[in-house]
Amino acid sequence: MVFIVLGLVSLIFLSIFYKWTTLTYNTFKERGVPFEEPWPLVGNMGAVVLNKESLNKTLLGFYKRNRKHGIVGFYNFRSPVYVVTNPEYIKKILVQDFDFFVNHTPFFKADDHPIVNGMLTVMKDERWRNMRNTLSPVFTASKMRAMFRLISDCLNECLDCLRDLTKGGKHHDIELKDLFTRLSNDIIASTAFGLKVNSYVNPNNEFYLIGKSVSKFRGMQMFKFIVSNSMPKVQKILGYKVFDTAKMAYFKRLVIDTMKYRQEHKVQRPDMIQLLIEAKEESDQNWSDDDIVGQCFIFFFAAFENNANFIATMCHELMENPDVQQRLYEEVLEVHDELGGKPLSYEAVMKMKYMDLVTSETLRKWNLAGFTDRLCSKDYDLTDDDGNIIFKFKANDYVWFPIVGLHYDDKYFEDPESFKPERFSDENKDNIKPFTYLPFGVGPRMCIGNRYALMQAKAMMYYMILDFKLERSPKTVENIMDDVRGFQIDPICGFWVRLVPRGKL
Ligand code: HEM
Repeated sequence: MVFIVLGLVSLIFLSIFYKWTTLTYNTFKERGVPFEEPWPLVGNMGAVVLNKESLNKTLLGFYKRNRKHGIVGFYNFRSPVYVVTNPEYIKKILVQDFDFFVNHTPFFKADDHPIVNGMLTVMKDERWRNMRNTLSPVFTASKMRAMFRLISDCLNECLDCLRDLTKGGKHHDIELKDLFTRLSNDIIASTAFGLKVNSYVNPNNEFYLIGKSVSKFRGMQMFKFIVSNSMPKVQKILGYKVFDTAKMAYFKRLVIDTMKYRQEHKVQRPDMIQLLIEAKEESDQNWSDDDIVGQCFIFFFAAFENNANFIATMCHELMENPDVQQRLYEEVLEVHDELGGKPLSYEAVMKMKYMDLVTSETLRKWNLAGFTDRLCSKDYDLTDDDGNIIFKFKANDYVWFPIVGLHYDDKYFEDPESFKPERFSDENKDNIKPFTYLPFGVGPRMCIGNRYALMQAKAMMYYMILDFKLERSPKTVENIMDDVRGFQIDPICGFWVRLVPRGKL
């Protein structure tokens, strides 16, 4: 009897749970939008959750099967998302009618750490506008120029490490993701937090270890994030935070102590913390400490993984495309000769034309951000040029823009699997259809750190190519994109390359 009751209770519980996992799955049918059949709980994310493929690969497959629809439904776990594939619609939503789509979809559905809520990416409406205006001057060309010296110091420390490993002209096989994550770490510590660390000499420094554990979304942190996203009430009941409170406190202490020290001792340093102190003083807004720490934290969060991926993927493509590498080497050598022994400058970096083509093509092929998103803030009718209604968005609809799909669409980029920097040359770049190339997003909410990311990646590549030829190592994986899993660009076997010192060629 007890077993029958227990069995019945479990059955009822399971059927309620199943109902809940599929509760939202009528949305697209009701709204008349094409969609693919979702799985309970994980929606259309099954392959990513099962670690069978990367998020980018899932999105790309979805885009290819559905690009004929200008708008198509995707279940991100249980959340219905409207994926906009038509570049004309993308322009309307992200630029022309931006006022209906000012905010991102909530990163965390339950309240998380106040520092996380203070990040520019999470801020909403007027608060976002004010902070964006406050921060914009931090990323101008003149501020980047001033910061370049700090970045150069970090690049040279990385180069010292590589020269050490190849002493005597011997080649060396190295995993680039680890190498450049350390570089990215040291640069962001110096330029955003005013902290000088050398993660080659001190591989286990506190900033690096804490930063790595916070920014790598895997294991327990990933689990907490998925629960927070799909079951915010459970997060509320359990009362946990996705980001470890002690680690967030470490970042906060670092920023507040540095700001205090700078103000008390009138210390000036051309870094972001300095610029934030100035921006805070000049702004008519009363920014709290958490708001300021939030910006350092998002700079850290955006830069740590992205910048490492950017340089690692670029090296990987140069290794796979020796003719492109040779052409880049010739340009780098020319600049080196022109500098005549003077250190690399911001102007010299930004003037390299072929380097610019190579970075553009790397960002097209590798999609460090596979999509971006917006939250519809008030009911909005998407219309064509004749005023006919294409789709009626409702307030609180989630909208995604499939950057990876557009970048791999052969309608816009011929032979998209191939690495062809020439696509972006002066002669060819006008053939690129507007709103199909979006590595940094577009419109008033586009990436604020693009100049900073490009500057440091180009400068590092200059030094790398000047000193080393990049060749395949026995550990290099054949098709590295298929080796990537999860939400970030982390190939299981890593980005292996053989560094051959040029002095010995
Ligand atoms: C190659 C490296 C990077 C890529 C591919 C990238 C890409 C992006 C993308 C796609 C967005 C969303 C834009 C949109 O929705 O229209 C974004 C936003 C943002 N990025 Fe980046 N990013 C990179 C590096 C950086 C760096 C180094 C920083 C900071 C130092 C940064 C700071 C931000 C911030 C603060 C936002 C939010 C802007 C806002 O909401 O107003 N990013 N980024």
